[in-house]
Amino acid sequence: MTLPQSPDAIVVSDAHKTYGTDQKAVVALGGVDAAIQRGEFVSIIGPSGCGKSTMLRMIAGLEEVDSGDVSIFGLRTEDACDAKMIGLVPQVPALLPWLSVLDNVTLPSKINRGAERRRQHGIGGVYTRPDPVDIHGLLDRVGLADAAHKLPAQLSGGMRQRASIVRAFGLQPDVLLMDEPFSALDEFTREALQGQLLEIWRDMQTTVVFVTHNVSEAVRLSDRVIVMGANPGRITAEVEIDLPRPRDEELLKSTAFHDYEDHIRHQLQSAWRDNSAAAA
Ligand SMILES: Nc1ncnc2c1ncn2[C@@H]1O[C@H](COP(=O)(O)OP(=O)(O)OP(=O)(O)O)[C@@H](O)[C@H]1O
Ligand SMILES: [Mg+2]
Repeated sequence: MTLPQSPDAIVVSDAHKTYGTDQKAVVALGGVDAAIQRGEFVSIIGPSGCGKSTMLRMIAGLEEVDSGDVSIFGLRTEDACDAKMIGLVPQVPALLPWLSVLDNVTLPSKINRGAERRRQHGIGGVYTRPDPVDIHGLLDRVGLADAAHKLPAQLSGGMRQRASIVRAFGLQPDVLLMDEPFSALDEFTREALQGQLLEIWRDMQTTVVFVTHNVSEAVRLSDRVIVMGANPGRITAEVEIDLPRPRDEELLKSTAFHDYEDHIRHQLQSAWRDNSAAAA
């Protein structure tokens, strides 16, 4: 299937990506079609190795598809990258070890000072310049205010993850790609950061593509959950999460919430079964 490009969506159309050759070839993406609407919060969930990070890297323009197409609001990924429209929180936080937390998180906005201007002239109509982000406020919100002058080596894994998240938010990207950003956090910090992410998403009207292994997290955060299966990496189900926002404590305990969790777990189990059958 070939999906048309859209000025209002990230479109992944019949995307194929294979690593290696011959017997050692791994089909990381075997014909993926997805359309993510502007402003939407979409999570991707699926077994390890099913191509979730590959899909994010394709959208981020860090890797090319072998065949098929990826477009960001009607732009080629290279152009979207040039216009600094994309922020990526990678699976492994990549902070510069010689810079303090504060210098790490402010670096992209220093480098990209000219980007706003380019975005205003970019394709896609009128662009309103966002107010500069209050980086100190963000550091405070994620509990890193006291660590602002520390080096990455002095931080725990979870603190590094949080610094990486602040850095991505600081750019105010149109598209925020997050690869298991909360995986190294304890449960309470994770829940607090989920809430903060939702606030920031709402305030900045960003489009978020969020990879997770955690079903509850996917249901709490998302407008839609994409379930992937492996060998070849592909989308096996898409589930609209029709729950009101904000998704408070009461809602998380509700039957409707648990029904969505059960449904997605069931879809994941099907993806696993298909995977095992293909491997047998
Ligand atoms: N650079 C690479 N070279 C070779 N194989 C790769 C490369 N990157 C990914 N792969 C393979 O492609 C498949 C998909 O990898 P990917 O990292 O996208 O999976 P994932 O769904 O993000 O997994 P996880 O949940 O463990 O992070 C895996 O089989 C992986 O081994
Ligand atoms: Mg991954």
